[in-house]
Amino acid sequence: MKNVEVLDFQPKLMDFKEEIVMGLRKFPKQTDPKLLYDEAGSRLFEQITALPEYYPTRTELKIMSEFRHSISDRIGKDASILEFGSGSHKKISLLLESLQEPAAYIPVDISKSILKESVNHLSQRFPKLMIKGICTDYTKPFQLPIELRKAKKRVVFFPGSTYGNFEPLVGQNFLKRTAKLLQKGDGLLIGVDTKKEQRILEDAYNDSQNITAEFNLNLLKRINREHSADFNLDTFRHHALFNEEIGRIEMHLISTIQQRVSIDREIFHFKEGESIHTENSYKYEPGQFKKITEQCGFKQEAVWLDHKKHFSIHYFTVQ
Ligand code: AVI
Repeated sequence: MKNVEVLDFQPKLMDFKEEIVMGLRKFPKQTDPKLLYDEAGSRLFEQITALPEYYPTRTELKIMSEFRHSISDRIGKDASILEFGSGSHKKISLLLESLQEPAAYIPVDISKSILKESVNHLSQRFPKLMIKGICTDYTKPFQLPIELRKAKKRVVFFPGSTYGNFEPLVGQNFLKRTAKLLQKGDGLLIGVDTKKEQRILEDAYNDSQNITAEFNLNLLKRINREHSADFNLDTFRHHALFNEEIGRIEMHLISTIQQRVSIDREIFHFKEGESIHTENSYKYEPGQFKKITEQCGFKQEAVWLDHKKHFSIHYFTVQ
């Protein structure tokens, strides 16, 4: 087996137009948050993670650094780390540096180019480590390669509170599938954003430099470009709010006028003030998340928080 490679499971790429049109035919209009991440959207999201108001990335890294020894002790020696969504190199590098003799690093991502980039970067940084990217959609069922099934221990790393972008039932199914993919005693190291003061939450999604607004409005740019649509970006505004009852941040694009928009010749009507609901970001209290995950085949081993309790990192094992 090669020390560094990318296995292509040839994930079915979604039909972007189909998804958009289906979402805009709904009432209220709603689109899947994953549609926000074209190339420009992914770049804007990277900028968001560095914003002063966007506390999650910074706080998660701080927790990882502060508790690296106890995280490493929990995971133990010889673990093969599977990262779902090969995102920021900073977090995985910090984890791999802290671990005792990790056996392998397996980033799992739907984008082959992101995966290749990540595999190349990390193989330079950790030349002795076995790195094997898997190109697949981790939100759908898939099987691990035989060598990984035979490895001593597997740990899924799912940072960034990406879990919060799943609707609750979708999230629970994801957790159940992840438990089935793993074996008894294997781990799940997962970053989860917590509930907190409304002002702190809303500021994080309404930043003063308007990068989050640009990220949200970029969805309309993408539809215009890819589907000869005629959204006028000046007639939509970004709006993010904390829905306290449900425990989630909601992102919307609000039409500031009554208007008609055409997408590949289909006409969509907007009333003045009507919204397209583009993303939910659920926030979970540590105890609430423990309960959910324990109902999905895991047992909580540890949870680490920053001193303000703004973010949590949980470690679970498969029962
Ligand atoms: C990727 N995800 C965890 C981010 C979040 O906070 O829900 C996406 C995001 N949307 C706006 N700002 C950040």
